[in-house]
Amino acid sequence: MSLPVEETAPVPLSALLRERTRAAHGEANSEQFIEELLSGGLSRAAHADLSAQLLPVYEALEEASAALGDDTQGDESRGAGLVFTELARVPALERDLAFLYGPAWRDEIRILPATRAYADHIREVGGSLPHYAAHSYTRYLGDLSGGQIVKRMMKQHYGLEEEGVAFYTFPDIPKVKVFKDAYRDALDQLDLDDDEVTATLDETLLAFTLNRAVFTELAEIHC
Ligand code: HEM
Repeated sequence: MSLPVEETAPVPLSALLRERTRAAHGEANSEQFIEELLSGGLSRAAHADLSAQLLPVYEALEEASAALGDDTQGDESRGAGLVFTELARVPALERDLAFLYGPAWRDEIRILPATRAYADHIREVGGSLPHYAAHSYTRYLGDLSGGQIVKRMMKQHYGLEEEGVAFYTFPDIPKVKVFKDAYRDALDQLDLDDDEVTATLDETLLAFTLNRAVFTELAEIHC
């Protein structure tokens, strides 16, 4: 008589992502720029500069979101469940930049080389679902998590009210925890094969590295 084979449920992608990025997360949020910005040791200009760097990154990410959300035919249609209009950050960033830099903000902001590299990279790979998922997860789940702490600290230390930190406010997401759970479910329901799961995990670690490179360049200017 043969014994029943024990089926082990596969670990959900959201759990793999959290686990595999734990160390990278710790390194990212102990970057000098982040630590000094959050503890109030920098200036409002440093917060403004970080907001400026986020714009090209989100423009690239949200172009990829639009392409995935629109494509109901191709392979990319597998990713439509991961596209949430309530996450869109570009309009909020533009409002923040107009407040922080004034009406000529487009001429005032300076995009750093590491930021260009990050945004260019998202444009290059964002049409691939594993890569898109990696970049979407890294930024949006981060914004809904640590981003909420950043918002509080920016208001506390740099004399801001809602204007200037709209990026960190998601008016169409009334309950962040509920939404984060739904987002994790959407990740877990992506129809990825093993190689694609590996590609997602690798790309997420790269996304953390690209974020750190921006913080390093910001530290050279502001710290
Ligand atoms: C600025 C300093 C940061 C603080 C204080 C911070 C704090 C946190 C906290 C408390 C959580 C857990 C939330 C929860 O359990 O639901 C979290 C999750 C997360 N953070 Fe950060 N974080 C920071 C920076 C970053 C950066 C720079 C990134 C990447 C660009 C990032 C990406 C993430 C992601 C992807 C998650 C979700 C983890 C998961 O549940 O899978 N964080 N963060």
